[in-house]
Amino acid sequence: MNVLITGATGYIGSHTIVSLLENGYEVIGLDNFSNSKGNVLDKLEKITGKKIKFYQGNMLNEDLLDKIFSENKIDFVIDFAAYKSVGDSVSKPIEYYINNVSSVLNLIKVMKKYNIKSLIFSSSATVYGMPSKVPIIETDKVGGTTNPYGTSKLFVEKILDDLYKSDNTWNICLFRYFNPVGAHPSGIIGEMPNGVPANLMPYISMVATGKLPLLQIFGNDYDTIDGTGVRDYIHIMDLADAHVCAIEKLHNKQEFNIYNLGTGKGTSVLELVKTYEKVNKVKINYKIAPRRTGDIASCYASAKKAEKELGWKTKYTIEEMCKDAHNFIVKND
Ligand code: UD1
Repeated sequence: MNVLITGATGYIGSHTIVSLLENGYEVIGLDNFSNSKGNVLDKLEKITGKKIKFYQGNMLNEDLLDKIFSENKIDFVIDFAAYKSVGDSVSKPIEYYINNVSSVLNLIKVMKKYNIKSLIFSSSATVYGMPSKVPIIETDKVGGTTNPYGTSKLFVEKILDDLYKSDNTWNICLFRYFNPVGAHPSGIIGEMPNGVPANLMPYISMVATGKLPLLQIFGNDYDTIDGTGVRDYIHIMDLADAHVCAIEKLHNKQEFNIYNLGTGKGTSVLELVKTYEKVNKVKINYKIAPRRTGDIASCYASAKKAEKELGWKTKYTIEEMCKDAHNFIVKND
């Protein structure tokens, strides 16, 4: 089966390609390297011993999408291509909406033309806004997003929902990712944010390796186990495997499905810092800072639906997430 991966060289795209290739799928990749590097392709070949067919370009370029679909027999599309910086999205909302929403409209148009109607879309737990309870289940209320990045994901979810309602021969799966962290255990690929990372795990890794002097822990007065924010960290390879499970279970279906992808377990900032220190035998300098605007106390998934319907289960522990994140940063200094 041939799977088109948009955002192929990005963090989640690249790890998913490894899982797909290891499970016998053929992959066609598309990326414009807006937040990744071309050498990821060599790295993927190094890990898997396989070469992928790759197109460099932008999903806003409809002619390019048309060319890809005319040159390949594509069975399934996984759309990872998007901008993902919460901060940038606030200062450049229009760029975010064009890149994250218009690109999907182009993709759908071309998929429709070639009668390819199987799509997995990368959404995010951010669509739940301020959740009223945890663990979050898929039928909980969405909306109340606090930034254009989150709103762009919400809009695309709605567009795909409307699309399915208009034509139920589509096969659409929305994955709402919680907090993907870690790296491929080889340390060859991982998360390589541009500049100073906004997310916790890459920030910890940079403090651990001396690239940044100090971690600020945003708030220790939340109503949580130790006062620091609680999130559902999920190993990137577990997340990648969910896509393989979804294709296996859903490839001949005509359904609209939504799944949370998390572990179902919350971990606090301090717990993550302590675990990182212990498994990697490093010291993380930190200080307690004021709460970050827009943050919530606790956010973790119920992942039961994906487990039950996709036959997927997370395997990696918080210890392994910290170990693999550190291994990657040390090897890619
Ligand atoms: C953030 C985004 C979310 C996005 C997700 C991707 C916001 C408000 N939300 O979620 O839209 O989908 O990343 O993974 O930005 N923390 C610190 N110090 C730091 C960085 C983070 O204490 O330097 C804390 C935060 O306050 C939070 C936890 O670590 O409690 C996790 O933060 P982060 O990795 O940014 O993820 P989210 O806030 O869950």
